[in-house]
Amino acid sequence: MGKARIEKRKIALIYNTYGESASESHADRGSAGDLRLQIRRMARALRSLGHAVTTVPLANDISAFQRRLMRLKPDVIFNQYDDVVHGALYEMRVATLVRIMGFPMTGSPALGLGLTRYKYMSASLLQGAGVPVPLCTALLERIGDIDKRAWPFPVIVQPSQEHAGIGLDRDSVVGSKSALRRKVRGILEAYRQPALAQQFLPGREFNVGLVGGKRLRVLPLAEVDYSRLPSGIPAIMSYACKWMEDSVEYQKTRVICPARVDASLASSISDTAVRAFRTVGGWGYGRVDIRLDADSVPRVLEVNCNPLLDAGVGIARSAKKAGMDYPHLLQLIVDAAFEGPPHDLDLPIYFTQGRKAKPAQWIPMPEAIP
Ligand SMILES: Nc1ncnc2c1ncn2[C@@H]1O[C@H](COP(=O)(O)OP(=O)(O)O)[C@@H](O)[C@H]1O
Ligand SMILES: [Mg+2]
Repeated sequence: MGKARIEKRKIALIYNTYGESASESHADRGSAGDLRLQIRRMARALRSLGHAVTTVPLANDISAFQRRLMRLKPDVIFNQYDDVVHGALYEMRVATLVRIMGFPMTGSPALGLGLTRYKYMSASLLQGAGVPVPLCTALLERIGDIDKRAWPFPVIVQPSQEHAGIGLDRDSVVGSKSALRRKVRGILEAYRQPALAQQFLPGREFNVGLVGGKRLRVLPLAEVDYSRLPSGIPAIMSYACKWMEDSVEYQKTRVICPARVDASLASSISDTAVRAFRTVGGWGYGRVDIRLDADSVPRVLEVNCNPLLDAGVGIARSAKKAGMDYPHLLQLIVDAAFEGPPHDLDLPIYFTQGRKAKPAQWIPMPEAIP
């Protein structure tokens, strides 16, 4: 990628820090230490393009964070805030905060981040928009909800507001009502949020990386290969499979990228992923998790509006297969931040910069939304 054409920007790379937790183990690749290293790699990649990058952690002092951004006055916020509290919606709230301050921001707007964190809402929306999702997707807020319907076992159950494989383990695929009841009870108690249950699709699983603003590119498809997993362990991207390096799940599962798929399947998977991402209001970059049903129809398991963006894995690995190196990928994401999202009007802001608050003004609505 030629450096000459890139406009140099002042970038604030925001991310979350939190106190070192006792439960963090070395075998767990989702740790705070890994996030810090990732942020360092990202800052280096962005600097290699000529941008001025300041990393701005957000721990628990939101005013200090805001003051720092106001002093910095970046051209754009590179958003790497990632929720770590069960059931939290801080991703959405932090995105709102920086947009209200008036800064362009990479990735999806608060609406997309919030919607996709609530898996039942996003599945309902996708279904309504005609994007296939697994059959019998249900939100279970109490044990009694289980008896209200007939279940097409096997069924997969997970917390309805998590990500990153949280709450998915060897018991998550159930074959009977009593096992379903046990699992739902466990989720209600441990995560204090409803459970999401849906028909388990045993077909091939794909991760579809997307990058860009108005021109959204589909990166080479990645397939999760479960064929070496011992029988008795369900073929799912559980927490262990994603993060626990010492587990059988982690060691016996691999990602094949580019996936070996024929052209018509590749195009129906890509088309489904793009429609899903646009439907939930995703922007800039994302990853759609898809699985095939018995008729080889791609069904959307999940749209990730804030997927892992570290070098060498996930989206970055797919991008590399398309000849797009890590800095190039990050540059496309920065470019998308200046393009949109559509209908996100930049109205004047009400923040006071620590001085006496100005009286609030009514801003007339524009006559037509372009
Ligand atoms: N309906 C389903 N059928 C088959 N596998 C599923 C289904 N839902 C989830 N999974 C498996 O569980 C994994 C994690 O589910 P997902 O909804 O993507 O949650 P997370 O946010 O934790 O990634 C998927 O990658 C897939 O392997
Ligand atoms: Mg997923």
